[in-house]
Amino acid sequence: MKTIRFGIIGGGLMGREFASAAARWAHLPDMDVRPEIVVLCDKVPALYPWYQQNFPTIAQVTDDYRALLANPRVEAVYVALPHHLHREVYCAAIAAGKHLMGEKPFGIDRAANDAILACARQHPDVFVRCSSESPFFPAMQRLCELIERNALGRIIEVNTGFLHSSDLDPSKPINWKRMIEFNGEYGVMGDLGMHALHVPLRAGWTPRNVRAILSDIVKQRPDATGRLVPCKTWDNASLFCETLDPATGEPFPMFIKLQRIAPGQKNHWFTEISGTKTSVRWSSVRADILEVLDYNGGEQAWTQIQTGHETAFKSITGGIFQFGFSDSILQMWAAFLFELAHGKPLKKFAGCVTPQETHLHHKIFTAALESHRTASVVKIDPN
Ligand SMILES: NC(=O)c1ccc[n+]([C@@H]2O[C@H](COP(=O)([O-])OP(=O)(O)OC[C@H]3O[C@@H](n4cnc5c(N)ncnc54)[C@H](O)[C@@H]3O)[C@@H](O)[C@H]2O)c1
Repeated sequence: MKTIRFGIIGGGLMGREFASAAARWAHLPDMDVRPEIVVLCDKVPALYPWYQQNFPTIAQVTDDYRALLANPRVEAVYVALPHHLHREVYCAAIAAGKHLMGEKPFGIDRAANDAILACARQHPDVFVRCSSESPFFPAMQRLCELIERNALGRIIEVNTGFLHSSDLDPSKPINWKRMIEFNGEYGVMGDLGMHALHVPLRAGWTPRNVRAILSDIVKQRPDATGRLVPCKTWDNASLFCETLDPATGEPFPMFIKLQRIAPGQKNHWFTEISGTKTSVRWSSVRADILEVLDYNGGEQAWTQIQTGHETAFKSITGGIFQFGFSDSILQMWAAFLFELAHGKPLKKFAGCVTPQETHLHHKIFTAALESHRTASVVKIDPN
């Protein structure tokens, strides 16, 4: 078993998810590579004890990411920081020769993303990927197999999105994710867009143009003292894209719906594809169900398939048992380590988001900002 020694930079919500996934690596009996967390960096020392108590392999804690990167024992880093820090810290990690799992949106804006990609190009021996876990749900893996086998026929329409309602309550205090200087001008698109676009972009469905409508629904929020301050980030985004299917050369409409204010929703990822031969849809609200409609000229009937634990990376969990969020995080990390160790993903749709794919995200979201500003359809440059 090969061990990759990791540093975590940003030990908040997502840093802990990675650490917990690393702690249950024994779930993945076929993996020949595993992570070991040796350094934690966070500005908040109150976060250290949880890591230190649960991970005796951690030999260093620091509030300075440069000290982590200077540690020669660290071979790879997971950076889970607010968006305004992505460019500086991702570039520093790559320049230090550390393999990088970064977080979305992989740079606060397109200029930051361009700079990160330029650093990656200068260090081709460093493995760089971006986190996104929803394709690792078994039902999504099945949906992706249908795409890979060209089983859908001509694509009629794609609907994809991510909805939650964490921000419906106007008295919820503002945090960095609602502040433009830390979260970025993309707002909800930077936060939720990677989840909705991972599979379409891996399928090669690159939008040619976009018409976007962005909504700022809650314009003020209390700060930590209770004083109302402006909340300028976009809460919701609806993008309508003309998209080309490389398998048929035909265009189709793709709708991307990203909402932080979607009443009733908690963590709702969905993908729906209508095709002339097969249509398929998945929603994380009923995550183990894949709905499929095969059309052979006869009755048009949706079939519901209950998926269990049929994961891309073999798991010790029994095949009939339900799969959940933290399982998808574990699978995603297996994908990162597998590709790092073997030089290619296990399967086309069992790989983490590539830097080139993050570049496409940025082009789409930058065009969406312009589309909303000018109330017009904006072309997306294919290069
Ligand atoms: N893949 C997913 O499902 C998912 C979910 C949520 C967030 N994210 C992404 O993960 C990243 C982090 O989000 P989060 O929810 O974990 O945020 P968080 O606020 O919970 O954690 C961020 C951590 O960074 C620390 N930090 C801030 N500045 C620092 C600095 N200069 N040096 C060291 N530490 C510093 C903070 O103290 C905090 O603990 C973001 O890019 C976000 O978009 C991804």
